[in-house]
Amino acid sequence: MKAFARHRRLRQNEAIRRMTRENHLSPADFIYPLFVVEGSGIKKEIPSMPGVFHYSLDRLGEELDEVAELGIPSVILFGVPEHKDACGSEAQAENGIVQQAIRRVKERQPHLYVMADTCLCQYTDHGHCGVVEEGKVQNDESLDLLVKTAVSQARAGADMIAPSNMMDGFVAAIRRGLDEAGFKEIPILSYAVKYASAFYGPFRDAAHSSPQFGDRRTYQMDPANSREALREAATDVEEGADMLMVKPGLAYMDIIRQLRDRFHLPVTVYNVSGEYSMVKAAAEKGWINERDVVLELLLGMKRAGAELILTYHAKEAARWLQEMT
Ligand code: PBG
Repeated sequence: MKAFARHRRLRQNEAIRRMTRENHLSPADFIYPLFVVEGSGIKKEIPSMPGVFHYSLDRLGEELDEVAELGIPSVILFGVPEHKDACGSEAQAENGIVQQAIRRVKERQPHLYVMADTCLCQYTDHGHCGVVEEGKVQNDESLDLLVKTAVSQARAGADMIAPSNMMDGFVAAIRRGLDEAGFKEIPILSYAVKYASAFYGPFRDAAHSSPQFGDRRTYQMDPANSREALREAATDVEEGADMLMVKPGLAYMDIIRQLRDRFHLPVTVYNVSGEYSMVKAAAEKGWINERDVVLELLLGMKRAGAELILTYHAKEAARWLQEMT
């Protein structure tokens, strides 16, 4: 009989499987998203995202302690303001909900690395990520507001600015704005490749950020495109991004791999709300083994080339990883 390869030699027991394993998950890979609301005494579960809560500032501390305890190095903050207007003024307010939350994190857990999501959609009454005139989202007019938002977040103590608005030129504008305000050392994680995805549904419920008319397809990318993703990423690199993000994750693993191969910046993936909710729903029904499925999905994102994973599963995944070692 002709000789054939015996791949199973290296799969015989856990020791050799561990020794030849190519990718690993660790709590250090995770960024945990937090939703902060105005008011007090609030810890309210988001119905479409079991296990994820709205916190008022006075209740945020307990959550931060848990994140730090689990060895997760970073959080990203999303504010859900009470007051919205046409230009999203609360996004850049010195005492806006996110600015206060950033200061709260730094007081309570100074070593947690704080990312600020820089966008306007939670703050505008029309729910778009920029200024609207004559029914259209205006690019250049929006940049100024985004720069002010980023600078106010840096002033409040954010360690990194993560702009998710998908206006053209936002990296260059924010970089210049941060530098001029004295924040040369604050890096930018660009949501370089953000698709117009149906997987954001539960987040929009959670952040009250659905567009009130139209959709986001004039600024977010068409899910059919991958060459366009490379153009987007290339300009963000040129404009001075320090890290790149792909969003969502599951349906876009090929994009993660392409960015990883073509650019030399760290790649982050956003495992978005709809991806989380699908797993939770199937697990609740007893149709899948939640732990195994979550760890497999997250590991798949690392194998695809992501160094960091922004995920609502971060706390439970970190706990499972702890239990397994
Ligand atoms: C926009 C923003 C979105 C998410 C985070 N920031 C998407 C959108 O509404 O376009 C979605 C994240 C998720 O689904 O988990 N600023």
